[in-house]
Amino acid sequence: MTEEPIIKLDNINVTFHQKKRTITAVNNVTVHVNRGDVYGIVGYSGAGKSTLVRVINLLQEPTSGSVIVNNETFFQATDENAKKTIIGGNALRDRRRKIGMIFQHFNLLNERTVTENVAFALQHSPLKDEEKKAKVAELLELVDLSDRADQFPAQLSGGQKQRVAIARALANDPEILISDEATSALDPKTTNQILALLKKLNQEFGLTIVLITHEMQAVKEIANKVSVMQDGEIIESGSLLEIFAQPKEQLTREFIETATNIDKAIETISHEALVHNLKDNEVFARLSYVGDTTDEPLITGLFRDFNVTANILYGNIEILQETPVGSLLVILSGESAQLKAALGTLRDHHVTVELIKGGQSL
Ligand SMILES: Nc1ncnc2c1ncn2[C@@H]1O[C@H](COP(=O)(O)OP(=O)(O)OP(=O)(O)O)[C@@H](O)[C@H]1O
Ligand SMILES: [Mg+2]
Repeated sequence: MTEEPIIKLDNINVTFHQKKRTITAVNNVTVHVNRGDVYGIVGYSGAGKSTLVRVINLLQEPTSGSVIVNNETFFQATDENAKKTIIGGNALRDRRRKIGMIFQHFNLLNERTVTENVAFALQHSPLKDEEKKAKVAELLELVDLSDRADQFPAQLSGGQKQRVAIARALANDPEILISDEATSALDPKTTNQILALLKKLNQEFGLTIVLITHEMQAVKEIANKVSVMQDGEIIESGSLLEIFAQPKEQLTREFIETATNIDKAIETISHEALVHNLKDNEVFARLSYVGDTTDEPLITGLFRDFNVTANILYGNIEILQETPVGSLLVILSGESAQLKAALGTLRDHHVTVELIKGGQSL
């Protein structure tokens, strides 16, 4: 039996009515997050990411759709006018404590110490005072802030503040953590530290993480699944490898480009003389591959078997989820039939071949 997703959002719509305007912030979105996923949701500002994730714990009640968390129906309504089912207030408050959230601006209480900020999340906890104290100490240890326990937020760096927020979000032992642009206000190095901490929480405690961001780099570091959102809709979803190796939508490509620079490389290289003055028997192509196929045997094989030479103008190999994902920009030259056969062999080896210039007859 396959396990049910821990978060099941089906056909979610969220519309806001403002005077004469109706804004559809989320448009018929279905997202299923499995236990243990780090699920990235990327999209530009205004795409509807925050509205969508606020639906998970009903901070935002949807207009219609169904929200099931941990096999429990939080909300269900077939359409705006239909009768809705909604979880009761007490139960909802209880369930919300099991869904931690962190944000771009940390949302700490400035008048309270680090310890007090974390303890604040335990105010409704059934734990005894001594147990709460021990719990807070343990959480601060986990986020490596034990030595800052008595300091105030103003005395901390951005990364440290976010770690306090993470400790607070984990206080009630949530199974789900929602991270809404949690690294957007941080520099790249601090971003990586926070992402590493999230990854550790995911791996060591099985914490399910929903990671909203407009930074594909962050998704690339830790997510295993990705959805791309635009104008309230999810336009593309897949495993991290699928999305990076074979993006289908233009917007997805744009996001990936921000994390790999391949489009910029194509643009720059297209102006180089070799490409500009491409000969009849030459083709400028992008070869992409996932997994163990490595560029060297691939390229030497082309020459050995087809007498096709490859001039590599740019190469980029990323390691995503322990799997190499490569992109090469090459000029392939050879006799037409041989070139065609060579491209066929590449494709047989699951190399995606994209002809950028030349090769009209292939
Ligand atoms: N409470 C609200 N009332 C009216 N409109 C809203 C409300 N909340 C969000 N919206 C609108 O819904 C759309 C989606 O907003 P949302 O905040 O979900 O986007 P986002 O993808 O999180 O953007 P960002 O990256 O800037 O945080 C926007 O057009 C926004 O103006
Ligand atoms: Mg947002």
